[in-house]
Amino acid sequence: MLELIHNDHKNLAILIQLLRERHAALVEKGEVNYSLIRDVVDYMQDYADKYHHKVEDVVYDYYLTHVCHQDAENNKLAQEHKKLELNTDELRTMLDMILNDCVIPLDQFAEKLGEFIELQQSHMDYEEEHVLPELEAKMSPSDWQAVADQFPVCPGATFEEAKATAQRLDPLFGQQVAEQYKELAKRLQKRSECVSV
Ligand SMILES: [Fe+2]
Ligand SMILES: [Fe+2]
Repeated sequence: MLELIHNDHKNLAILIQLLRERHAALVEKGEVNYSLIRDVVDYMQDYADKYHHKVEDVVYDYYLTHVCHQDAENNKLAQEHKKLELNTDELRTMLDMILNDCVIPLDQFAEKLGEFIELQQSHMDYEEEHVLPELEAKMSPSDWQAVADQFPVCPGATFEEAKATAQRLDPLFGQQVAEQYKELAKRLQKRSECVSV
């Protein structure tokens, strides 16, 4: 399951980098592609908020309760997930307004987008540097099996089944790209070809 979380992070890092480039173009040249940014934000809502963070919450709640024997109510990870969800909603609402021809000053949008990028990056860094190494060091194979049994999408799933579910549910990096994300997927494909040349 840790492997799945790391894999999601690799994909999210690609999107964060894409947003950083768009943010720089916006700040330096006033260039902005709202629909591209909207697609990335939609993906964050569709997959990261609804699935990726939920899986992390299940694992971390189990860890706090059964391995650390702590109160799982007030954990920093769950609080960050709520904060991210709220911040993503705010950015999505702003994008909606802009795409519906409301006048939002460019610098206000740039500030909100910058805040979104930094929150996403620092959250992922916190998980990669602190949360995931701690889980890896302290959770036993039977703990992981117990977590798999609580898996929100497929209870009792083996690793391979959980992986297949993640690939099926991921509408951008998964088995099948959803219609809504085809443009974004094309763009990512072109970027990866440029990087690998
Ligand atoms: Fe997370
Ligand atoms: Fe994460």
